[in-house]
Parts: sequence; C-alpha cells; structure tokens
Amino acid sequence: MIRLEGITKVFPGVKSLDNVSFEAVAGEVHALLGENGAGKSTLIKTMAGAYTADEGTIYFDGNKRSWTTPKESKDAGIHIIYQELMLFPELSVAENIFLGQAPRTRLRTIDYKAMYESANETLDKLGHHLDSRVLVKDLSVADQQMVEIAKALVGETKLLVLDEPTAVISGRESELLFERIKLLRDEGVCIIYISHRLEEIFSIADRVTVLKDGQYVGTYDVAELDRDRLVGMMVGRKVKDIFPPKKDPPAKAAPVLTARNLCVSPKVNDVSFDLYAGEILGLAGLVGAGRSEVAHALFGSISRSDGGVTLGGEGFDAPSPRESIDRGLGFLTEDRKGEGLIMSLDVSANVTAPALPEFTTSLGLDRAHETQAAKDEIKRFRVAVPGPEYGVNKLSGGNQQKILFGRWTRTCRRVLILDEPTRGIDVGTKVEIYEIIRKLADEGLGVLLISSELPEIVGLCTRVLVMRDGIITGEVSGAEINEETIMKFATAAKEPMVQSVFLGEAT
Ligand SMILES: Nc1ncnc2c1ncn2[C@@H]1O[C@H](COP(=O)(O)OP(=O)(O)OP(=O)(O)O)[C@@H](O)[C@H]1O
Ligand SMILES: [Mg+2]
Repeated sequence: MIRLEGITKVFPGVKSLDNVSFEAVAGEVHALLGENGAGKSTLIKTMAGAYTADEGTIYFDGNKRSWTTPKESKDAGIHIIYQELMLFPELSVAENIFLGQAPRTRLRTIDYKAMYESANETLDKLGHHLDSRVLVKDLSVADQQMVEIAKALVGETKLLVLDEPTAVISGRESELLFERIKLLRDEGVCIIYISHRLEEIFSIADRVTVLKDGQYVGTYDVAELDRDRLVGMMVGRKVKDIFPPKKDPPAKAAPVLTARNLCVSPKVNDVSFDLYAGEILGLAGLVGAGRSEVAHALFGSISRSDGGVTLGGEGFDAPSPRESIDRGLGFLTEDRKGEGLIMSLDVSANVTAPALPEFTTSLGLDRAHETQAAKDEIKRFRVAVPGPEYGVNKLSGGNQQKILFGRWTRTCRRVLILDEPTRGIDVGTKVEIYEIIRKLADEGLGVLLISSELPEIVGLCTRVLVMRDGIITGEVSGAEINEETIMKFATAAKEPMVQSVFLGEAT
C-alpha cells in the first residue's frame, strides 16, 4: 500500500529522519513506535506531502509519488489524523467532519439537515454522542479528538494514519475506536498507528516498526515481541514501570488549598476537598466528568458560579490566572496548544513565561538568565531540541509537553495542578517525570493530579477523589487505592460498563 525508501529529512540543527525505509500493507494495523523526537510524526508528514523529503522515494498503491501538498495525498486516499488537531474552531462539528464534502440538496446548496444527521450518526458509531451543531471551539480536547476521528470515517480512505489518537480520550472511547479500526482493517484499509501506550499496541497492531533518533531500527510481528523487548529497542536501555515510593504528607499540617462547594455551571457541582502540602492528591474520573473544569476554576481560567476556595490559608475567590501564578499556584493544562504553549516563541520564552519578573531587571529582560533557565530545563527533562532559541512549534509533541512541565515546576511554590501530565510522553521519560512529581511533593508542594491513566493515579497518589458527572462520588486512600475501586466510583451503575482492556498496565 505505502512504501517509503531511504527517506531523509533534515531541519536546521536536526536530522529528523536518516535514510528510513518503511512499508505497510492493505489490511494491517501497523504501529510506528519510538521515543519523543524519534521522527514518527515527521515520517507520516512526509508520507502525506506535508513535508518534502530531502532524499528518498514514496510509493503509494504501487506507483511512485511525489506529493507537494497534503491535498494531493488526501485525494489519493490517505487520511491523516495529526497529533496536533487540525480543526476549524469557528465551524460546527458537522462542518468540520464534512469539510469540502458536505451533502447537497437538489439545488446544490449544503443540505444542513442531512449533514447534521449523518455527522451525528458517524459520532454515534464511535460511541461518542455529541451535538454536531456545536462549534468546535466550545468542545473539550477529548471531544475535538473524536471529531478528528469521525472525519476519517467519511469519504474514501485507503490509508488511515493516526498520530496518538488516544492521548486525550478515555479507555471506553479508545475501545470503541479500536473496534472501528479493526473493522476498517478487515475491509482492507491500511492503518498506521502511533501511540506511547504500549498496551494498545499489543491489543490492535499486527506489526510494529521502531524508530530511534531518526533511524530505522526494525519491523516486527507483534506476536513475536514482548513489552520489555519493545521498550528496549525504543529506549536503548531497560526501563521498568517503577513509581517512586509513596509518602503520606506531614501529619496535622493545615491544608494548603481548600475548596468548599465549588460549582461551575453546569459542569461541576458542590465539589469540596482539602489539599495538603507534601501530598499527591489524585482526581480521577472518566473524560467529561468535570475534572478539568475543577482545575480551571481553581486556577481562575474559568469562572466559578459558586463556592469558596482558600490558598495558603487565605481567601482565594475569583482569581485571575495572573493572580494564581503570583500566589504560587501552577497549572499544567491538558490543552498544550490552546492554553499552554506560545507557539510563536522559542523554548526560552516558553519556559520563563509565567515567571517574567524573575527574569526582568531594571534594564529589561535578562536574556542570559532566561537562556540559562531554559538550558537547565532542557537538560533536566532531556528535551530533544538543538537549543533554547529553537521555536517550540518545531518540537515533537512529547518534547513540547516536557517544556510545559519545566515551566511550571520552576514557578510554582504552593500548589501544582497537573492535567494529564504525561500525555504523549515516552516510556523512559515518564518514569523520570514521576520522580520529579514525587520530589516536588517532598519539597512541600501540594500536587493535584488529574490523569486518565489509572495506573498513574494508583502508582503516585496517597489519596484519590473520584468524580462522575460533575460531583465527587468517592474518596479512596491508602490500600483502598486500586483500579477497580476507582472505576466503580467513576462509572454509573445504571450504565453497562465496558470492561477496559487498557487498565492493566502503565506505559
Ligand atoms: N518543522 C520542524 N522544524 C524543525 N524541526 C522539526 C520540525 N518538525 C520536527 N522537527 C524535529 O524533528 C525531530 C523529530 O520530531 P517528530 O515530531 O517527528 O518526533 P516524534 O517521534 O513524533 O515524537 P513525539 O513522540 O514526541 O511526538 C525532533 O527533534 C523535532 O524537533
Ligand atoms: Mg509526534
């Protein structure tokens, strides 16, 4: 179906792909694996004509092709779901799904009724019920991801590429997505699948190709691999899923943050809890349960409709994000493109953005100090980037996430809210990030951890709040913290629960 031969792609300062060959055939799910910055996204962008290779040849459907734009590859039947979503925020869900191929009435005008109906149908097939008239900008990241996936299901697709599609959706939605992927595969579609969640690879991929530092490592049948071998090939060393030892927060300390009857209409209702210094408190629940809204309401990036919050013992009502930062509250958002990174600036500026006073002297911005701070973070998180002056828009997805992590761990003194912190982060670096989170708590920060990866919650937290439909449905601590108990509180008893196959293992 698709064959790449000897592809080399060089960016200033980085050789993203170094003589890489790759082949995927019709009717298979072919996983593409490698650490952050290994070249996975670059390879698929080259495949699609979004990047032009410096060297090498592309064959699609048996013919040599040299696409110059993504449109050409799309017309030939290649559909790519990019890591950074490509939706039009000002258009409705349905308009995004049917962009350029909307159903028409007899008078050749867009048949909105038919369009909304079939958009809803497509989403229903994915088990994701959304009103397709809603504007994309009003959706959560998870909903947006489902819209991206729905787009791939309309029209004629011969090759479907998914670059980390499950990073922001829940286990249940992932499972429905995998069912669709398997159906498409059985219909003869070729599917290329990128993910850092290795358990997914074992449940849907037929073959895997591993890249490392822009080079081809090998292609293998999944049946002949186990997890350790796969990780070894990607990382080049042994990595175990080790969470640092848990520690209870110092006894009897006053809470560093309290929330009483916090409401965000209509998503969050009467949420109350205390967070202690030195504690890693989990906030678990399915996507859409209201966890991110709680985080935004604490930080002040959305307004509270009711409730009282204290930070460091003092009232903290209706803060702005600026005030939150000044008072020592940091927030790593789940939407790194929309709310986190300033894409037009370089790594230095992004690391230091919330802490500008620290880097400003009477003479203006202290560039040397700023550069040093960025260099420290690059080193600490092993960010694959040539230097601090590099634009963040040129970094790989996982490396962008590391920059955000570096930013917040520098500036925050009291409470750090982490919303899906290891999303898109590779296996090796995750372990390091877990250690950093533990260390920050040991140094006296209160950490509120939101994660859809249950093993992460179970492995790191000493206490866990579980949310469902905007309310806290349970609190578990100590030995009670396990996936079954959390899932029980997170899912409605009325709803038949789809047993997730991904809950067994962290990657
Ligand atoms: N447009 C660009 N300009 C400059 N450098 C780039 C560009 N796109 C990618 N790179 C660099 O190429 C390398 C490979 O990046 P790529 O995005 O392909 O990694 P990846 O394997 O997809 O990683 P991740 O798992 O983090 O998404 C990185 O070092 C990245 O900084
Ligand atoms: Mg990528």
